[in-house]
This record gives sequence, C-alpha cells and structure tokens, in this order.
Amino acid sequence: MIVGVLGAGAMGSGIAQVASQNGHSVVLVDLSEDILAQSKSKLEKVMDRLLEKGRLTEEQSRSIQNRISYSTKMHDFANCGLVIEAIVENLDVKKKVFNELDAICSSEAILATNTSSLSVTSIACAVNDSSRVLGVHFFNPAPLMPLVEVIGGIQTSSEVLNSTRVLIDSWGKVTVEAKDTPGFIVNRVARPFYGEAIRIYEEGIADFADIDWAMKEFGNYRMGPFELMDLIGNDVNYAVTESVFEAFYYDPRYRPSTTQKRRVEAGWYGRKSGRGYYAYSEGSEKPAPSISTEEGQKILDRIEAMLINEAVDAVYLNIASPMDVDLAMTKGVNYPKGLIALAEEMGYKTAYKRLKKLYRKYSEDRYRPSPLLKSLAKEGKSLLD
Ligand code: NAI
Repeated sequence: MIVGVLGAGAMGSGIAQVASQNGHSVVLVDLSEDILAQSKSKLEKVMDRLLEKGRLTEEQSRSIQNRISYSTKMHDFANCGLVIEAIVENLDVKKKVFNELDAICSSEAILATNTSSLSVTSIACAVNDSSRVLGVHFFNPAPLMPLVEVIGGIQTSSEVLNSTRVLIDSWGKVTVEAKDTPGFIVNRVARPFYGEAIRIYEEGIADFADIDWAMKEFGNYRMGPFELMDLIGNDVNYAVTESVFEAFYYDPRYRPSTTQKRRVEAGWYGRKSGRGYYAYSEGSEKPAPSISTEEGQKILDRIEAMLINEAVDAVYLNIASPMDVDLAMTKGVNYPKGLIALAEEMGYKTAYKRLKKLYRKYSEDRYRPSPLLKSLAKEGKSLLD
C-alpha cells in the first residue's frame, strides 16, 4: 500500500520515514519546495547516522530514501491507500485540505489527521464519507517515540479504526485508542505535571530547580516539569494548555498560568530561545536544589496525586481503558510507571486522601477528586483485574 503524508515539517517527515522504513512507498507532499528539500536532506543525515552505527545496511538506507517521493501536488495522493495529514494546527485549513483529499483520493482510502488538539469529528465533516476519517496522533520525534494515539471521530467506522490500528502496530508502534475529546489521553492526563508544578512555584513553596529535583530524585521522572517545558517550548506547551482549558469549557483543573504566559510574552520559550525557566547561554548553570528530602517528597506526592486523579478520571469518563492510559503515559511521555499502576501500588486510598486534603485546604474545584477515585478508595477495588 502506498502511504501519503501531507506536510513535510517535523511530524510529517518523521511519519514518512516510519512508513518507508516499514516497506511502504510514500508520497510526501508540502506546499513548499524548500521544506521538501530540507526534509529530504534531513532524512539523508539520519540514514547516514544509522548506517554509521550499523543499525542498517547501505542497501536498506538507499531503499528507505528511494521509497519516498517528494511533491508539491496533492494529486499525487491518487493511488494512496492511507493519507496522514500533518500540516498546521488550524481547523479551517485542515478542513479545507480534507475536502480536497476527498476529491483526490480513491473512495477506499483512509484519511488520517495527526492533530494533537483539534476535534477529529470536526475535521471528518469535511469529507463526504466521514466514516473513513480518523486521528493518528504520533509523538515527536515520530521515528523514535513508540506511542500512537488512534482516535475515532463519532462518525469513524470500527473497520477503519481497527485496520489502521493493526497497520500502525505492524510498524512496531504501540497504539492506544482514545475517545475524541480534548487532549486525547497524553495531553489531557499530563496537564498537572506542568500545571501543579507551576502552582507550587507560584505559592512560593519551592523554586523551579527544587521541583525538578523532587520529581527526578523521588519519582524517577526523566526530566522535571520545568526542564521539560523548556524543552517542549513554553509557547507550544502554553498553547496546548490553553486549548485544552478552553475545550473543557474552562474547567479550573486545566487552567493555564500567568507564570508561563509571561515567559511566552517575553520570548522566553526555553532551550530554543536560549532562556525559559532556566538560562541556556554558555556558562549558565542550573541552580542546585535548596529544599529538604521531606519537602521534595511532598512535592512529588502532590503532583502525582493530581496526575493519578486525571488518569482515573479519564478511565471514569471512558476516554480510554486503564491499560491504554498507562501505556500512553509510559510510551508517549516516558513516565517511569503508568499512573494507574502507581495508584494501585500506593493504594487508591492514599491518592484520594492526598487530594481531599488539597481540596479542603484550597476549596478549589481544581482539586476535586474523580468519583471513580473516590469509589476505588472506599471499596478497595482494582482497575487492572
Ligand atoms: P511544522 O510546522 O513543522 O510542519 C507543518 C508543515 O505543513 C510545513 O512544512 C508547512 O509548509 C506544511 N503545510 C502547511 N499547510 C499546508 C498545506 N495546505 N498543504 C501542504 N502542506 C502544508 O508542524 P509540525 O510540528 O510537524 O506539526 C504538524 C501537525 O502535527 C500539527 O497538526 C501538530 O499539531 C501535530 N503534532 C505536532 C507535534 C509536535 O511535537 N510538533 C506532536 C504531535 C502532533
């Protein structure tokens, strides 16, 4: 089957590489010749590196590169069995190109969007037969990150959903199924990792470096929240938070922060701009942590209680299965352990008690425990049986 990829930016190029590495002929389309040329030369460099490391042979490298054809014309998608769209995150633009894809592609072709925050249902509306449209949400960088969230709009047929999931599994990816709701699994469940960390800072409990240290030292997270926001880019991370907040009708659980907004306004995006929560210019060093072990543990407990609540609530609202929620967080954002598994280990009662304490202290809806967390805590049941 020929795979089409629309958009040759960071995600589209990565997805094209994955499809080609798995034996598909790929048609990669972008508006800009320059971007296509950049995408091609980046792939060449990646292949050279893999060749040097002995991860593939010269022949494999050549065929992976030769299987991708580059074009500025969407009409070249005519013979594709699957087209994955990875252009700008703008609903009107996406709807317009899906309408064009509908006319160009065979009626059998599956049309997928890599959107991370828009409604798949809404994008699918631009296609006559909406049942052939779905979301396939890869993570950056697509060739390295194992997770793909597969999302059906309310019109998507189960055949389209299942066959796409089987195909992407066969590419060696870990697929999870998520309901078409804001942030799907990862970008919803992960919100407190950033938001609660910022809130702790805003209350003056600890500084960025303290909070990062607490999460890494006691929770085994690979990166602390502030380091990670600086890596993702505060502009990108803030935009996701804002869009999830709006899409949830301003639920205070997802409220963005002024602390991060100011950084965006100042152009302090993080690593890419040389400054974010930390400075990245030559010679700058991260401050050493200045809190006690006990204080560090409390910070971890607070952030993890919020994360567990979010994970359990996603199960409660049938966004995804407990297993898929755990796979999403371990394979999509490298959490050291699934949040449901973590809750089972510490006991739902412990997580619930921590949350109730916060709820009592602040009297804010942000800390309300999920009804499912409450019943698991009271009834002593498991979600993993
Ligand atoms: P990007 O800005 O790197 O690439 C977008 C590409 O689409 C550009 O090369 C642009 O020339 C091209 N383009 C724009 N309009 C087009 C059109 N009408 N026809 C053909 N090409 C067009 O963006 P990136 O980061 O690759 O994101 C693409 C999509 O993937 C977005 O929907 C984004 O939300 C989603 N996504 C991004 C992730 C990330 O970490 N960057 C992670 C997961 C999903």
